[in-house]
Amino acid sequence: MSPPLWIACYLIATLGHMAIWIASFNRLHAANSHFLIRKSSYGFLAIAVFLVPAIFSFVAYREFDFFPDAMTSFPVVFTAYFSACLFFGLYTATIWMYRRIVDHQNPSIQSAHAISRYDFGGVATQANRSAFERSFAAIPGNQIYRLNVETRHLNFPHLNSALDGLTLTLISDLHFTGNICQAYFEQVVEKANELDSDFIIIAGDIIDREYCLSWLKQTLAELSAKHGIYFVLGNHDRKLKNETLIRETLRGIGCRDVADRWLPIDFNGSQIHLVGNERPWFGDETRVSSDPFEFSNGDLRICVTHSPDQWKWGRERGCDLTLAGHTHGGQIRIPLLGPVISPSYFGVKYASGIFCHNGKVMVVSRGVSGEEPIRFNCPPEITQIKIQV
Ligand SMILES: [Fe+2]
Repeated sequence: MSPPLWIACYLIATLGHMAIWIASFNRLHAANSHFLIRKSSYGFLAIAVFLVPAIFSFVAYREFDFFPDAMTSFPVVFTAYFSACLFFGLYTATIWMYRRIVDHQNPSIQSAHAISRYDFGGVATQANRSAFERSFAAIPGNQIYRLNVETRHLNFPHLNSALDGLTLTLISDLHFTGNICQAYFEQVVEKANELDSDFIIIAGDIIDREYCLSWLKQTLAELSAKHGIYFVLGNHDRKLKNETLIRETLRGIGCRDVADRWLPIDFNGSQIHLVGNERPWFGDETRVSSDPFEFSNGDLRICVTHSPDQWKWGRERGCDLTLAGHTHGGQIRIPLLGPVISPSYFGVKYASGIFCHNGKVMVVSRGVSGEEPIRFNCPPEITQIKIQV
């Protein structure tokens, strides 16, 4: 094998090695169940992704002069792993190219998509930010305050004509931690209210720290929508000792909990059926019947869930539209490569955007915030969906 071919193989195998470990990390975090997994995995991932290839490179360079003939001298376990990495690297590159050629982000069901960009960095003063927040905000290119308001027009010709023009605002992953100042969230709420939607849907990961509970009453209580505000919780909401406190506080400010239940709502004489799913962190989805009562043809069924992994569950219950968050769009998107970290059983496939399967649609928000106040090439988002019949 010529040196250039060996180097190409080595680079593809390195890509495969990284892809194996990152893919494992994403799937391990899809359920995010164990304390040790949550706390140790970032360090473990860094070692696996960066240190191991560095050691391999050093060994290959020092011992074998970077030539492939030396492969025969490698231990059989290394050769087998190298071959697996080579295969997985080719597979990853093929999938990456396929996703860029086939534009799954622009299905025919979406007739229009507009983005308005805002920068709320000006409201974050020295006084209202922690030193932690200031140090992250100072990183060049960090987009934590650069909210995008995305408007998506979705066509559902089979629905009752009374639902034409219905609007929903999706807000996800607020992450009230104190790591991003309250003033930013006040601007987000103001912008959401300006959209004047019929419904506001909050798709989980609302609060991480108990001392931010007052923010629910001070900031989130300002949200308003003509036909109400509905929510489910996400994995980070488990960080409070008692998640019931979040539910009670949200109910106290007029939000409605849709977890594990169907909620029929009258709209212009037609019916909307909301159903919530907080799996795999809360509740029991088997409690929710796939068809609990008579649906009329033309009714709109909406599944509200934190994890996009529950889309199949929503589709099985006939939901025309599933609204999710959780994956934050990856939070850091590498130019050309896109998102890398996405805690989902599907990896980065559902990191954010719109997805379509047999006429059923899922919209995944990049979210408003995150536990770590850092975003590159991945601005925070609220989304308004306009239903067209
Ligand atoms: Fe989140």
